[in-house]
Amino acid sequence: MAILVTGGAGYIGSHVVKTLWDKGRKIVVVDRFSPEKSRAILKWARFYKGDFGNASLLEKIFSENEIDAVMHFAAYIRVDESMEKPLMYFENNVAKTIVLLKEMQRHNVKRFVFSSTCAIYGTPKYLPLDEKHPLNPESVYGMTKMMVEDILKSLSAAEKLGFVSLRYFNAAGADWKSGIGYYKKLHLIPKILDVVLGKEPELKVFGTDYDTRDGTCIRDYIHVLDLADAHVLALEYLENGGRSDFFNLGSGKGYTVKEVIKAVEEVCGKKIPFVEAGRRQGDVSALFADNRKARDVLGWNPKRELKEIISSAWEWHRRCFV
Ligand SMILES: NC(=O)c1ccc[n+]([C@@H]2O[C@H](COP(=O)([O-])OP(=O)(O)OC[C@H]3O[C@@H](n4cnc5c(N)ncnc54)[C@H](O)[C@@H]3O)[C@@H](O)[C@H]2O)c1
Repeated sequence: MAILVTGGAGYIGSHVVKTLWDKGRKIVVVDRFSPEKSRAILKWARFYKGDFGNASLLEKIFSENEIDAVMHFAAYIRVDESMEKPLMYFENNVAKTIVLLKEMQRHNVKRFVFSSTCAIYGTPKYLPLDEKHPLNPESVYGMTKMMVEDILKSLSAAEKLGFVSLRYFNAAGADWKSGIGYYKKLHLIPKILDVVLGKEPELKVFGTDYDTRDGTCIRDYIHVLDLADAHVLALEYLENGGRSDFFNLGSGKGYTVKEVIKAVEEVCGKKIPFVEAGRRQGDVSALFADNRKARDVLGWNPKRELKEIISSAWEWHRRCFV
């Protein structure tokens, strides 16, 4: 039996493919992009290049492989872009997910692991954020993830679909030894590393007047390999009859932007020039997870601290990206 991974050529998906392969799982990937920076996944998975919302491609994939579970990573992921192009986001992240779920239904596939996000909580009413926190997404991107969670709840009740929705905080780091994964400049750590490598002259720090210990935003950074471990545990949980549920995946610790800059300086041994820019619309001052539910129910144990996240990212940038 195989696991279908949508978006398996992307950053988190490719790390999960590697981890599943290490566990001896059979993997099928569908992605619109060839895994240029993650060519190794062609060795670990049967690869279908195309759109996961294309019903005839899905029909081919489900007919040619014995799919037992789906891990659904494929999505558009930019908060700012989602506000400018909402229909594009609703179509890719919600409408196409319905096509995928229908195809699973046709082939009687009953296990689904979904990539959700802490963006569905909106501005925190309390911290750390647990799964009982009210959902109030403030972007179209966050709305699309909440809508899929609602669809999954209905399907779980109506036809016993077993799902786990994993609400990631800020994925970071890399498995540089396998050379997989690629980095988007929209994330803080890659942006800082671009400055270290001289690709950018300085870092812009958006907002220095937040009500935090040094005025900059606090976020929770979780190593992509800890995320990957959680996916394997989520799958095993469903296979062992676990009931459909939602889990936060964060380290449980929050770091300010200035603390991350300092940690990068320590890892790379270089001073990072930065300029203070104004707040960005939609940024909240602090976000970090209460991850006890994933620890208690899934047995998840995130092991990699901020410094390890940064050094893995730094190695990846130096060896794979320069
Ligand atoms: N990176 C983070 O910190 C973070 C945080 C919270 C949630 N997430 C979620 O995790 C998932 C993976 O994120 P990522 O950072 O790896 O993003 P990514 O952009 O690196 O990967 C997404 C992959 O999906 C593919 N894709 C998108 N639409 C497709 C379509 N219609 N058909 C086929 N392939 C398609 C892309 O080609 C890409 O390879 C997303 O669902 C995202 O919303 C990510």
